[in-house]
Amino acid sequence: MKKTLIFGTGSTGQKIYHEIKEFKKVVGFLDNDKSRWGGGKIKLDGIPVLGNAEVLNSIEYDEIIIGSLTGLNTIRKQLLEAGVEEGKIKTNYIETQVNARINFLRDFAKINKEIAKKYAVAEGGVFQGDFAKEINFCFPDSDLYLFDTFEGFDKRDIDIEKKNGYSNEEEGHLSITSEEIVLSKLPFKEKAVIRKGYFPETVKGLENMKYFFVNLDFDLYHPILEGLRYFMPRLVCGGVVLIHDYFNPGYLGVEKAVEDYEKENNIILHKFPIGDHCSLGIMK
Ligand SMILES: C[S@@+](CC[C@H](N)C(=O)[O-])C[C@H]1O[C@@H](n2cnc3c(N)ncnc32)[C@H](O)[C@@H]1O
Repeated sequence: MKKTLIFGTGSTGQKIYHEIKEFKKVVGFLDNDKSRWGGGKIKLDGIPVLGNAEVLNSIEYDEIIIGSLTGLNTIRKQLLEAGVEEGKIKTNYIETQVNARINFLRDFAKINKEIAKKYAVAEGGVFQGDFAKEINFCFPDSDLYLFDTFEGFDKRDIDIEKKNGYSNEEEGHLSITSEEIVLSKLPFKEKAVIRKGYFPETVKGLENMKYFFVNLDFDLYHPILEGLRYFMPRLVCGGVVLIHDYFNPGYLGVEKAVEDYEKENNIILHKFPIGDHCSLGIMK
């Protein structure tokens, strides 16, 4: 059996582990988040979280599976820089998901090029800016509003997750980022408006906005619900809100937030899958 490492201890990495554990020998996980090292926080058959790419020289392995949707290119680059042979880096478990979402965005932007120019676009939950850069590239004439704590998950949201059993996330997870990292990736950075802080507090002053495309990728129940409350009334006709992780069993609060938003407004949203097994599209 192949000695395998999985890079990413979040819900994607854990899902991949369950898919492969019968036919591969998973010898460890890797993660860039130090708080996950040691394996105390994820309990997957006692398999340890060994560290980041720096530990690879001291480990015997046949392949490394990238198991993080947010970090595909960054992690691949890190591994190559750490001297890992390209053939040992496996991206096939997440490539379809990552590329399907990008293809949807590119095609949607292309067919709506003229109308989109008149409105803003946004992302709620930016992390290191890997999808924000795609939005910015696809909508070069639109202001791009970016909402994130840039300090990871907030205790208020995590308390709701734990109380309701929506996810296993921890306060402060996904904090390895900054506004500078995000801006450095944007091809049209002059169009970016960064709203740093706890969402929805950061929408103050943006009551009169009109949006054509929004990616809601907060992972957690409360900010997703608040995102729908803020963005849906400000989405123009023909515009789309994408809700990432709607089909992800590791983030049950996302689907629940959509359900609760429909209930509180007594509506049925025009929902559609986009082919990445993860995101839900909502068209106004
Ligand atoms: C999965 S990451 C976003 C990934 C990014 N969209 C991408 O595709 O690369 C989720 C982000 O949501 C942010 N977040 C979650 N809850 C938040 C809240 N209430 N206010 C602001 N940011 C929040 C986290 O800090 C984290 O950076």
